[in-house]
Amino acid sequence: MNAATSTSDELGVLEGMELRRFVAPEIVFGRGALELVGRHIAAYQGRRILLVTDENVRRAGWFGQVEASLRKAGSRYVIFDRLTPNPKDYEIMAGVDFYLRQGCDMVLAVGGGSVIDCAKGIGAAAVNQRHILRFLDSVEGMLPSPPLICVPTTAGSGADVSQFAVVLDTRRRVKATLIGRAFVPEVTLVDAETTATLPKEYVAASGLDALIHALEAYLSNASSPITDLYALEAARLIRSNLVQAVNHPEDQQSRHSMMLGSLLAGIAFSNAGLGLIHAMGHAVGGLLDAVHGVALSAVFSSAARFQFDAAKPRCLAFLRAMHPHLNLKDEDKALQALMDDFQLLREELELPLTLAEIGVRQSDLPALARQALEDACLATAPRAPTLEDIEELFVEGYGR
Ligand SMILES: [Fe+2]
Repeated sequence: MNAATSTSDELGVLEGMELRRFVAPEIVFGRGALELVGRHIAAYQGRRILLVTDENVRRAGWFGQVEASLRKAGSRYVIFDRLTPNPKDYEIMAGVDFYLRQGCDMVLAVGGGSVIDCAKGIGAAAVNQRHILRFLDSVEGMLPSPPLICVPTTAGSGADVSQFAVVLDTRRRVKATLIGRAFVPEVTLVDAETTATLPKEYVAASGLDALIHALEAYLSNASSPITDLYALEAARLIRSNLVQAVNHPEDQQSRHSMMLGSLLAGIAFSNAGLGLIHAMGHAVGGLLDAVHGVALSAVFSSAARFQFDAAKPRCLAFLRAMHPHLNLKDEDKALQALMDDFQLLREELELPLTLAEIGVRQSDLPALARQALEDACLATAPRAPTLEDIEELFVEGYGR
């Protein structure tokens, strides 16, 4: 063994050989998946199911197929839909109360990321008899959550495959990220039929969120050869289908590709983690109760530039994944090209480019920086920022 390899080997950092763990739920993907809900619920032998959803989803035509599938399988269920975007701590605890009073022993989430995160929170808090915010202190000694089956209805959050749950601490107006194996659903049933009637602005915001999941997972200091595969394929699928899916909801192929891209990005970030864009986006989302993808768009430029500087070769690879025919080899040029490409995409999607556009005040910036520094997503950022760095990035991203 020569000196160079022995040094790397002693450190345990031979390329792609760092110890990594990879978790994912059972995945059922494709047309007709949502009609299989009853069969999968029955496999877990739940006696009484808490169906977590929201009013918009209940109004969708296909929701009847989910209920029909449950009835056909003989499942007894009760519906909890008293929740809003960015699941609030008190909404989750109301769900816990309902779950316990109804004698439920299993959870089915039919909705976007907020619904799924709320369902994760209800299951974990109910079985552990603990307030949801107590898990912020520690997830040590958590009892396993009751079985959770998901039907995602947006192509974006990745919550149906991730070990993350995001909760809004309403007293502190902070979005907190809970991470642990207990938050990984058992099964996800992914069917692009569910996104057919989603409003255009939600398709755009959740699609950008998914692309940023792929980006941050790929740049993460906890990435691995396994997560890289998922992240890069997600980048290709999302970049080539998102604008089409927003502007042409009747195009089943692009909605299907977006669902697949979102799924792959979700698996990537669940296992590799995220970074500064999500940390700053969570701070803004918590303050304004803003749509997650909108908050990410507003912080993107400054947060991304800070991260890109630390990961130039990976930026080039990510750009090539999004644009396979691009003939660019210079890493510095790739960095600017990647920034320009995300700017163009956000403009095409009519998403905000600055914090001022979404109602952040300049006086909010110091508190936002302190909050972003506390965010769990920073643990896997490719470059660790100081408080001063984040303050400067918020100032830079405030207006143009
Ligand atoms: Fe996200």
